[in-house]
Amino acid sequence: MKALEGVRILDFTHVQSGPTCTQLLAWFGADVIKVERPGTGDITRGQLRDLAEADSLYFTMLNHNKRSITLNTKTEQGKKVLEALIKSCDVLVENFAPGALDRMGFTWERIQELNPAMIVASIKGFGPGPYQDCKVYENVAQCTGGAASTTGFRDGLPLVTGAQIGDSGTGLHLCLGIVTALYQRTKTGRGQKVTAAMQDGVLNLCRVKLRDQQRLAHGPLKEYSQYGEGFEFGDAVPRAGNDSGGGQPGRILKCKGWENDPNAYIYFITQAPVWEAICDVIGEPGWKTDPDYATPNARLPRLNAVFERIERWTETHDKFEVMKVLNERDIPCGPILSMKELAEDASLRATGTIVEVEHPVRGSYLSVGNPIKLSDSPTEVTRSPLLGEHTEEILRDVLKFDDTALEELRGSGAIGEPAKLAAE
Ligand code: COA
Repeated sequence: MKALEGVRILDFTHVQSGPTCTQLLAWFGADVIKVERPGTGDITRGQLRDLAEADSLYFTMLNHNKRSITLNTKTEQGKKVLEALIKSCDVLVENFAPGALDRMGFTWERIQELNPAMIVASIKGFGPGPYQDCKVYENVAQCTGGAASTTGFRDGLPLVTGAQIGDSGTGLHLCLGIVTALYQRTKTGRGQKVTAAMQDGVLNLCRVKLRDQQRLAHGPLKEYSQYGEGFEFGDAVPRAGNDSGGGQPGRILKCKGWENDPNAYIYFITQAPVWEAICDVIGEPGWKTDPDYATPNARLPRLNAVFERIERWTETHDKFEVMKVLNERDIPCGPILSMKELAEDASLRATGTIVEVEHPVRGSYLSVGNPIKLSDSPTEVTRSPLLGEHTEEILRDVLKFDDTALEELRGSGAIGEPAKLAAE
């Protein structure tokens, strides 16, 4: 069996943040019923399309293992079906703009009336406060959650990161909230509201930067390169380039071939316990006892000199050779791996972190599988549903609609037509 077998999710999510959450729940075995607007569905189905007729990779990679029902929840008939779904599901997950669910007529109070055991889980851009009514996308969250002000180089613009910490990060936070609420429900029998704000999620992931903000009141942040470079600190945590956030100074260094390969670099960490090994590898055995270099504190104002010297060594080897030599000596490091290298990585394929999925319209494509591995609940990734592919199945099997009820619903226009395979 799967960990969440028997749990039914009413998936009212769209775009990225919510769908990442419900995809995880599906991977853990929940029956995830994605409710989409007839005709268009989740807007991402049509965004960034690489093949004219196929659901975009954006959509397929965020909606595996789900079933799709199309339903216009603004019609009377559609509302009735939604009510029936609320009564039949354990969790409703949504990430509409603030107030959208209420405007549809499904307030927390109404949902409680229909199903007191239902867990209602929501992602919003901000928690209660001045921005609670704002619509938010990934980069807005990165900017308002502290990530952008602390990412990039001291003398450059704030930067957003490629990791989707606002969307997928908040999806993860919400997912944990949902399974926690499900666990509490086993004791109380009651549902509850679970909310995760994207600003809060990003700030949670920037926790170490709030740590540094407070350290700043007691002196310069000595592990930041700007300390060694003699630049004064202001009153807010600066952008730290590629400096390591912890007490183990690190930098990205060039490896052989960097002139032509944008990813011929390695992250090198000068972890204190392996300092002597580092000195041997780079050919500076004298630094083991030199008072200017022998201790972590002595090195802090000299980190530029330290990393320039290490780089003179890393530049003579390709990034995988550097990785091999350093790991033999327990020196922590990480080559900069391109998406191409990751896509081709045999070990990631073997663990199911990179999966190849068959899709009836687009053929085979790569996706990131479940990064969370449960020994007793393995994940099998199955393709995302076509728009409305399971409308009839859900109405019959979950809601027990008979032929007459189905016919009536079709006539009302509340459920739309299911997407057809090109071949049909
Ligand atoms: N049938 C009928 N109407 C439906 C429907 C359905 N099945 N599904 C959605 N709708 C309606 C909603 O009720 C809403 O209508 P209303 O505005 O008239 O009340 C409308 O569709 C649009 O919803 P909205 O969420 O406002 O979409 P948007 O495209 O304008 O905004 C976001 C998108 C992401 C900016 C916004 O949803 C948001 O801020 N979400 C919260 C934060 C978040 O998750 N952001 C990250 C997304 S990756």
